[in-house]
Amino acid sequence: MNKSKTYWIRTFGCQMNEHDSERLAGLLEVQGYRKVATPDLADVAVFNTCAIRENADNRLYGNLGHIKAVKDVNPDLKVVVGGCLAEKDRETIVRKAPWVDVVMGTRNIEALPALLQRVEEQGIPVVEFSETLNVFPSALPARRDNRFHAWVAIQYGCNNACTFCIVPSVRGHEDSRRIGDILGEVKDLCADGVIEVTLLGQNVNSYGRDIYSTPKFADLLLALDGIEGLKRVRYTSPHPKDFREPVARAMAESSVVCEHLHLPLQSGSSRVLKLMKRSYSREKFLDKVAMAREIIPGLALTTDIIVGFPGETEEDFAQTLSLVEEVRFDSAFTFQYSPRPGTVAATMQDQIPPEVVTERFNRLAEAQHRISLERNEAHVGEMVEVLVEGPSKKNPDKLTGRTRTNKLVHFTDRELVGAGVAPAAGTGLGRLNASIGVSSAVADAPAIPGQGEFRTLEITGASPSHMEGRLV
Ligand code: SAH
Ligand code: SF4
Ligand code: F3S
Repeated sequence: MNKSKTYWIRTFGCQMNEHDSERLAGLLEVQGYRKVATPDLADVAVFNTCAIRENADNRLYGNLGHIKAVKDVNPDLKVVVGGCLAEKDRETIVRKAPWVDVVMGTRNIEALPALLQRVEEQGIPVVEFSETLNVFPSALPARRDNRFHAWVAIQYGCNNACTFCIVPSVRGHEDSRRIGDILGEVKDLCADGVIEVTLLGQNVNSYGRDIYSTPKFADLLLALDGIEGLKRVRYTSPHPKDFREPVARAMAESSVVCEHLHLPLQSGSSRVLKLMKRSYSREKFLDKVAMAREIIPGLALTTDIIVGFPGETEEDFAQTLSLVEEVRFDSAFTFQYSPRPGTVAATMQDQIPPEVVTERFNRLAEAQHRISLERNEAHVGEMVEVLVEGPSKKNPDKLTGRTRTNKLVHFTDRELVGAGVAPAAGTGLGRLNASIGVSSAVADAPAIPGQGEFRTLEITGASPSHMEGRLV
């Protein structure tokens, strides 16, 4: 244990990686490491990487180039590469960037301290991966940067085989965590001040199938209702093929599960959905949306869409556009298709020329922009309850809160602004919690005023990305 050591961590990709980074940080803090804001102050620099689209690759190697300059000044700096791109590239990373000290997989996060020790002892880079998930990362100590919100992984890996997607090959097969362990963790988190949790999995609707022989996601949602202190539950992502009535009913019945469903569409063309191996058609997707909207009052709906999947014709794309117009998602993450090595789609004939993809992408983005604006405008004049996250990133004189429907609202609160409010992101406000022995909370910065409090606002304005509100 060396109390003077420091670490810096940079996370790419999805919430699953955010969650894992909290664990990597927690493990280092238990070893006595302290978080620093820049790599030049660090003894250990960790890159937790993502491989979902090609630009992720370029970004990692660019970042490793920058870190080499830091290491030239401080040769004792240990450079760690973990996450999905580490799984994908493995030994290639130390070949391309020999100044990297540790390359580790997504399934052996708990090994970080031991791997660092091995580098110290042996003086040569270590590359280590595990096929099995020996320790569920949620059971590891976590350093959370937010007092009131926590990520909780309920499932690791993915058993689907969407032809565009690299996740199953870098995260492995689905492993569910036991319901009792999840409830235990959420109770501990709430006892420690957390009021909002986001459940994480690649296909949360199949949660439990591997260990209980039947999906248990609806039961899990219901079981969370009533945990003392817990006010909001979110989850991501449900796969449309497995999103069924019991889950929608549990969402409606539970007082804590928020009225927001992120249901990734990918394409509005049944032909393309089949090529993607998504196991649902356009019509099935529309049925699920209608079912969810009927059962859950006030539901906000968001999605993911890929443009330019191999073989996508103008007619297929028109189907995506028309579905977007019909469903009117509150917002959508739109992506240009990116061929990933090892996936079926990467070898398909008829890859779409980049200029065609970009042109379609722009048309889709424009349509969704307009719809998001219209949907947000429809709330002007309504009263909403928001959970305050901190100062607005664009205008520090304003605060940002989130509605249950996952919409951001900017507003002014004279009591809070001016009371020493600092931007929410990267404030270094830390909490260390652990479900395995090591415990106690660490707060190394003052709390952000208002963070984690509820406010009632009247909506006064809207843009595609957020709404404006007035305190009432
Ligand atoms: N498990 C989630 C998706 C996780 S990946 C699900 O099935 O919904 C997040 C999003 O990245 C996907 O929904 C998809 O829209 C996008 N994506 C995945 N692979 C991609 C690729 N090769 N090119 C472009 N976008 C991709
Ligand atoms: Fe990828 Fe499909 Fe699994 Fe989502 S469900 S992680 S898109 S393979
Ligand atoms: Fe990226 Fe891995 Fe998430 S590939 S999107 S970090 S599961």
